[in-house]
Amino acid sequence: MNASTLAGIAQALEIQPHHQDWHAFVQRVETHGSHLHALLFSLYGQREDFEAQFTRILTTTARAWLERPADLKRLDAEREINPRWFQSEQMLGGIAYVDLFAGSLDGIRAKVPYFKELGLTYVHLMPLFKCPEGNSDGGYAVSSYREVNPSLGTLDQLRDLTRELRANGISLCLDFIFNHTSDEHEWARKALAGDPEYRDFYYIMSRAEADAYDRNLREIFPDQHPGAFTPLSHWTGTPANNAPSDPWVWTTFNSFQVDLRYENPAVFDAMAGEMLFLANAGVDVLRMDAVAFIWKQLGTICENLPEAHTLIQAFNALSRIAAPSLLFKSEAIVHPNDVAKYIRPDECQISYNPLLMALLWNSLATREVNLLAQAIHSRSKIHSDCAWVNYVRCHDDIGWTFSDEDASLLGINGYEHRRFLNQFYTGRFENSFARGLPFQENPKTGDARLSGMTAALAGLEKALADGNEFEIDLAIRRILLIHGIILSFGGIPLIYLNDEIGALNDYGFREDPHKAGDSRWVHRPVANWADYDLRQTTGTIQSRVYSGLRHLIDMRKAQPALATGVEAVETGNPHVLGYAHYHATGPLLVLANFSERPQMASAQTLHQQGLSWPAIDLITGNRVALHEDVALSPYQLAWLRPA
Ligand code: GLC
Ligand code: GLC
Repeated sequence: MNASTLAGIAQALEIQPHHQDWHAFVQRVETHGSHLHALLFSLYGQREDFEAQFTRILTTTARAWLERPADLKRLDAEREINPRWFQSEQMLGGIAYVDLFAGSLDGIRAKVPYFKELGLTYVHLMPLFKCPEGNSDGGYAVSSYREVNPSLGTLDQLRDLTRELRANGISLCLDFIFNHTSDEHEWARKALAGDPEYRDFYYIMSRAEADAYDRNLREIFPDQHPGAFTPLSHWTGTPANNAPSDPWVWTTFNSFQVDLRYENPAVFDAMAGEMLFLANAGVDVLRMDAVAFIWKQLGTICENLPEAHTLIQAFNALSRIAAPSLLFKSEAIVHPNDVAKYIRPDECQISYNPLLMALLWNSLATREVNLLAQAIHSRSKIHSDCAWVNYVRCHDDIGWTFSDEDASLLGINGYEHRRFLNQFYTGRFENSFARGLPFQENPKTGDARLSGMTAALAGLEKALADGNEFEIDLAIRRILLIHGIILSFGGIPLIYLNDEIGALNDYGFREDPHKAGDSRWVHRPVANWADYDLRQTTGTIQSRVYSGLRHLIDMRKAQPALATGVEAVETGNPHVLGYAHYHATGPLLVLANFSERPQMASAQTLHQQGLSWPAIDLITGNRVALHEDVALSPYQLAWLRPA
């Protein structure tokens, strides 16, 4: 790094070169600066003012480092010594909406004892920033990254919360919603009003140009608007006359979510400042929202472009310099080939595992484990410094993002199969146990995704309505089975809070005009604390789900083997999934029956894979002889260790 660049920055920030913090900054720039420079050069190097842009970005980074609180700098140092801290059998995540779960940030603080009771070490709070009133896509339209939504609390309360969580061994994850801002963000207001500096922050173009892009784009929210654009007249009130020269604005999601234009380095610099501000507020993990969409290029589908990766790597390099303990979690709900590309130590260290999620639901519907076993075999390996975040449900819809090529190897037609899954989970398929709702059905493509709480999709809602005790039992087994898989799959298991007490769908959203058009609200219930109390009352649904899950959590936390990656194991039975951890403390074999009938795993098949020891099932405590066929009851999960 050019010494005069650094000297110039020190001078601009009025910092003495021998200042201890500055010294640490210079050291980190020596380590990561040239990498950052190369990344930014590949994005912006064709500009004449590139070096000035780079200095500006580095100045933003330096300022953030100098402002970083001392306790966070200590955390940085701890995690630099233990960079794989998140790869531990102790890790357990939970997701919650601040308002729906506890009313406010202080309300969340009051729930810390509950988080500890459940065993959480990681909490993802849904977007809590200032956002438009009414529909804000659940807060995913941010009007200021530096202001907490006043109905939830203040920035100081957020800082207090992060400290309290950390003191209790819990990391905080917040979203970095960096693909778009809300249309009420100051930058967007200026842009939409015609300020040229801020117009360059967004994509505003003629209908003819928009058409040229639209030709290759996937529609993400077809219910909201066709294509990816919204007419500028939506904001200015000037009626459009559908002339090819009318200006249009890029809005991949809702019209009030305006896509940022990272081709402009000023956008990168501005968002770098916002990102490091969040890190300095005490956020441990940033959930990198909608990563697939952040770079656009005419003539492409504008998803998962190589520059999107470069951009995230550049943000990562900045955080190595100014907030080294920060982790990135990738939210790419796309083809598994593309999901994998975001997972690298220098890009996103952790990633949602949407394939495992979708295929768990697939196996519950089909009672077959073929796609799941194939995915474990060919798609679960990632870099050893990275980890999957394994989940069953989250606040979003379920998209059937398995690979059509993989499916066809098993004789499955992807298109037809997705149709079946949507039919099954919306309860339109005969004998389905599920009660989900379709999300964003697109009549043009036949595409659809799915909404619903775990308990509703797994059959509990229907079984309760039918008063069918037998089906209730099966539904609870399904819920525990799929959670038992995410708890034993390596990486970080993530529970969508309310699922741990078997909460059902909430149809109240249909009465709210700001929510009625978005079926994802069916699985965003207000936490019912009277129901939560019932987790303590033996025999209730809440207690049956909660205590079953708690037991699995206790077992997980006692098995270091479960923090590591998995290897596929054949079981000789199409209904029984198998995988194993091979760890210094010995092997751990997982068997899972995805059918409502008793099944056997074949001793001969296991033996051929070297799995024929006398075992103990950690879940039941029973001894199991692997040299005999292993009997599994309906939906039984077994975690087998050498006895
Ligand atoms: C992410 C969020 C989703 C939101 C979208 C747009 O996918 O998970 O809820 O609608 O980004 O920000
Ligand atoms: C993001 C996610 C996608 C989701 C959408 C809205 O695009 O990647 O999976 O469907 O947001 O929910």
